[in-house]
Amino acid sequence: MLAVAHLNVWYGVTEILRDVSFDVPDGRIVALLGGNGSGKTTILNTLTGLVKPRAGSVLLAGEECAGLRADQIVRKGMVQVPQGREVFQSMSVVENLEMGAATRRDRAELRAGIEDMMGLFPTLARKSRQRAGSLSGGEQQMLAIARALMARPRCLLMDEPSAGLSPVVVDTMIDAILALHRRGLTILLVEQNVGVAAAAADSAHVLQNGEIAFSGPAASLLDNPEVLRSYLGR
Ligand SMILES: Nc1ncnc2c1ncn2[C@@H]1O[C@H](COP(=O)(O)OP(=O)(O)O)[C@@H](O)[C@H]1O
Ligand SMILES: [Mg+2]
Repeated sequence: MLAVAHLNVWYGVTEILRDVSFDVPDGRIVALLGGNGSGKTTILNTLTGLVKPRAGSVLLAGEECAGLRADQIVRKGMVQVPQGREVFQSMSVVENLEMGAATRRDRAELRAGIEDMMGLFPTLARKSRQRAGSLSGGEQQMLAIARALMARPRCLLMDEPSAGLSPVVVDTMIDAILALHRRGLTILLVEQNVGVAAAAADSAHVLQNGEIAFSGPAASLLDNPEVLRSYLGR
């Protein structure tokens, strides 16, 4: 589904990503791990056209996305859930979902999309008319995911969905990610929480200083002391 090859990104005079390559096969969950500042968000921003790479290729289902505008990439089916549960605080849950479908015009389709999200996230259904700002952190994160799904992605990019959530809510988040997986969605999951990556992803890549330092099955991360210590600060 997604093939990223030899990405090179600079901010001004600083090289941020160096020769980053990885694939996300159809219907799989691939995790991208790494400490603060290792370049995880920059990778997602580059995939979705918010940052222009100096070199490299981003193929989505065989089509080149590098160099396209952000709205063109959304239409091709690659959608990012931003870091830090950025929802429109003063809008209701339903209004937030409508914003996510801005690229789709058909009313009936919009209603069907909202119904679908309410089924997938029952807490959002119960609070559909509430202001997004009144939701808990976990609920806002679910809303951010649901809003991204309203654009009907083929490939969903999630930026630290478990950040700042309590352990119980993190478990709910893992369940939600696995539910999306069962629907056949292809997911690139950026995390700092190794437990979430190990529980949800098929394979994982660990980023250090803008380069991929380790790649392997996600389940192997937890029993690889060197990876935990050297790259993930555990
Ligand atoms: N807009 C920007 N301009 C300059 N440097 C940036 C910008 N955004 C991020 N950086 C730098 O790029 C590096 C990678 O950041 P980021 O991709 O946000 O890492 P992560 O998501 O892994 O925490 C960091 O050193 C950060 O300071
Ligand atoms: Mg980040």
